[in-house]
Amino acid sequence: MGAGIRILAAALLALAAVRGATAQLRQGYYSASCPNVEAIVQAAVALTMATRDVIGLAGGPAYPVELGRLDGLVSTASNVDGNLPPPSFNLDQLTAMFAANNLSQADMIALSAAHTVGFAHCGTFTGRIQTAAVDPTMDPGYASQLLAACPAGVDPNVALEIDPVTPHAFDNQYFINLQKGMGLLTSDQVLYADLRSRPTVDAWAANSSDFEAAFVAAMTNLGRVGVKTDPALGNIRRDCAVLNS
Ligand SMILES: *[C@@H]1O[C@H](CO)[C@@H](O)[C@H](O)[C@H]1NC(C)=O
Ligand SMILES: *[C@@H]1O[C@H](CO)[C@@H](O)[C@H](O)[C@H]1NC(C)=O
Repeated sequence: MGAGIRILAAALLALAAVRGATAQLRQGYYSASCPNVEAIVQAAVALTMATRDVIGLAGGPAYPVELGRLDGLVSTASNVDGNLPPPSFNLDQLTAMFAANNLSQADMIALSAAHTVGFAHCGTFTGRIQTAAVDPTMDPGYASQLLAACPAGVDPNVALEIDPVTPHAFDNQYFINLQKGMGLLTSDQVLYADLRSRPTVDAWAANSSDFEAAFVAAMTNLGRVGVKTDPALGNIRRDCAVLNS
């Protein structure tokens, strides 16, 4: 998995693990009641704050993280199933998965742009680049570059940057790539190929501050999914990585 995918995976995994009663989140939640807690940071909070920091380090927008969610009492890898979009998803499938988490199609498109700093294994896109049947929504030159980097029998650990133009910058190049048929995954390129989402891609390709505002709004909405604040349903972990014993 690539960095962008990992960021989303981590965020959605945290959300899957803590899904439960919803309640109000707010900025600076612990600063009055328990200042040390924010230094200790809980698992879900650590993920959301680390995500924020990674985005900032890559030149992306700064945004405040709302705090106050408890860590779940259950955390299993199987919670991820059905909560992370596979690379083959079309627009309706992507929109439905995000809608199930109270996230709009615009949120989905904005969060997909986390792929501006991600990697993907060859196996997630080889079906789109075969010489005899290049995906018609992909630029043929890009497809042949990808095939050269991911020939038949390539080591399954090989992964390519999802944004080949500015792979280390958190920017709106992701959307400009989609306009050129240079979306790596089906679930990337479909945002431009489908005429219902194309206007949003075009708008954010043209205006990075509009994209950044939409991304910050989407991250805030993502942080409100499945919030747990009822102490019967969650607690604050002493060690972020393990359940309290
Ligand atoms: C981007 O859109 C904003 C309004 O949302 C506008 O103020 C700004 O001038 C636009 N920037 C560019 C480069 O078009
Ligand atoms: C979506 O919003 C509704 C209404 O606020 C809430 O009851 C539900 O728990 C939310 N779903 C998630 C996954 O956060």
